[in-house]
Amino acid sequence: CDVFWIIDVKSVIKLGVCRPPGNEKSSFYYGTFPTGFSWGAGSSAYQTEGAWNIDGKGMSIWDAFARKKGKIFSNDTGDSSCEGYYKYKDDISLMKDMKLNHYRFSISWPRILPSGLKNEHINEKGIKYYDDLINMLLENKITPIVTLYHWDLPQLLQEKYGGWQNGSMVNHFNDFANLCFERFGNRVKYWITFNNPWSIAVEGYETGEHAPGLKLKGTGAYKAAHHIIKAHAKVWHTYDMQWRSKQKGLVGISLTADWGEPVDITNQRDIEAAERYIQFYMGWFATPIFNGDYPQVMKDYVGTKSGQQGLGASRLPVFSPQEKSYIKGTCDFLGLGHFTTRYVTMKNYPSGLGDSYFSDRDLAELVDPQWPDPGSEWLYSVPWGFRRLLNFVKTQYGNPMIYVTENGVSEKMQCTDLCDDWRMKYFKDYINEMLKALKDGVNVKGYTAWSLLDNFEWDEGFSERFGLYYVDFRSKNKPRYPKASVQFYKRIISSNGFPNQREVESWKRKAVETCSSSNQLLAADPLIGHMEMVTEIVVPTVCTLCILLSAVFLMFLLRGRL
Ligand code: NOJ
Repeated sequence: CDVFWIIDVKSVIKLGVCRPPGNEKSSFYYGTFPTGFSWGAGSSAYQTEGAWNIDGKGMSIWDAFARKKGKIFSNDTGDSSCEGYYKYKDDISLMKDMKLNHYRFSISWPRILPSGLKNEHINEKGIKYYDDLINMLLENKITPIVTLYHWDLPQLLQEKYGGWQNGSMVNHFNDFANLCFERFGNRVKYWITFNNPWSIAVEGYETGEHAPGLKLKGTGAYKAAHHIIKAHAKVWHTYDMQWRSKQKGLVGISLTADWGEPVDITNQRDIEAAERYIQFYMGWFATPIFNGDYPQVMKDYVGTKSGQQGLGASRLPVFSPQEKSYIKGTCDFLGLGHFTTRYVTMKNYPSGLGDSYFSDRDLAELVDPQWPDPGSEWLYSVPWGFRRLLNFVKTQYGNPMIYVTENGVSEKMQCTDLCDDWRMKYFKDYINEMLKALKDGVNVKGYTAWSLLDNFEWDEGFSERFGLYYVDFRSKNKPRYPKASVQFYKRIISSNGFPNQREVESWKRKAVETCSSSNQLLAADPLIGHMEMVTEIVVPTVCTLCILLSAVFLMFLLRGRL
């Protein structure tokens, strides 16, 4: 019973720890989802659009961060990515073919407000791009679920104000959101203010692995989160006061969280450590939004540690009574992103070793080496954790309406096998756990597979592929190829779940059969790429040379005659 001890989010060290046999493995549940359950796939602007400086778009913090050497795997950038800005029509055809009910995408703030500020300049070309995208989705009966902030803050706001460290961002974000409601709200009925604010705060302002790359240990993440929560609440109130009665839409937030399971379910200290893990993850944002304040355990732990460090006040900011009531209840639905699970045990971090968000939690994260991990180092496939997380949301936050806004698994860049049986298994088992949660009474209304396409995976660049569709990034045209999981997901959608064992077992076989032809097409792609090069570079160069030579020849001829 080896278990690995994770010392930080990305590196794993082996440690011999035993866990009593748990009840993780449970049987598959055959059944279907309620009528009207919404099936979708997701993307985000910086990860897929490309066109980073086209048609008046301003620079985002990710454009700036990716330009710094050594920040992104292989120094990749999202400059062109999947060229989604140009290929959205093709992508909608892919969605239509899968019979998706919804598509989750994000609006790039600097594409429509290049400086970030509404009173400076509105970029109508950027607005038109999203107008066209939304219209075409609706023509194809695909509901847009729109995220306002999927991490690409206008760079000028970072330079001028320090980004989310500054309270003025609340108003700037509200202006941007208000513009989106004004321009798109007659057609968009599902709004997500922030995607995964945990990542924005911790990876952007604590570890610095993400843009803007700041390492303000022990304070930066808490401050960023505080402003993000206030910005979310303000935008919800703006919608509620100015738009809801006309537009009749919903405004939520998308929180991402792993499930945390106590290493030893009979040990009270492990149980409490696992509880802290989730409270410092999703509770940090969900508790103020649903219940009015930070989780008590966060206030206690950060407060005590700050005191031990000789600070006069807690590093965790405080909401005033007015702010608490303003923030409480600002969520029409909860977007939930979930990928993986950790075992958690108590681990004391004595003060004096440097404060950080991670040491404030007094815990260690562990994983079971038996868990499959086909792609990203942090992503182990643990389907049963999903059901537990969904039930946790139900009991902690009053059974809110949930849309799963992200769930999926990656493979490494080098993997060109489109017969992705590990992804089919991941989807099958995770979606099945969601079905069980629904039977437990959790109010899940929709599911979004992450992601529609392979795309720019942040600091990992293009080295991790989450897509249902494989994108050949070597080729200028960024062609898309369906992985087997496209077929598999299509069957789940058309059956609205898992009708019976015989049928479900045949899905994988059929999906693998069809994907071998896509494999052949992909294998022929270097040839296509070569032909592209011939038509786009060699032919024009040869033609230009011919014209030049003929001109020179003509000149000589004319000179001879004169
Ligand atoms: C969550 C983020 O929202 C998304 O952008 C990212 O691609 C996935 N996690 C996978 O890491």
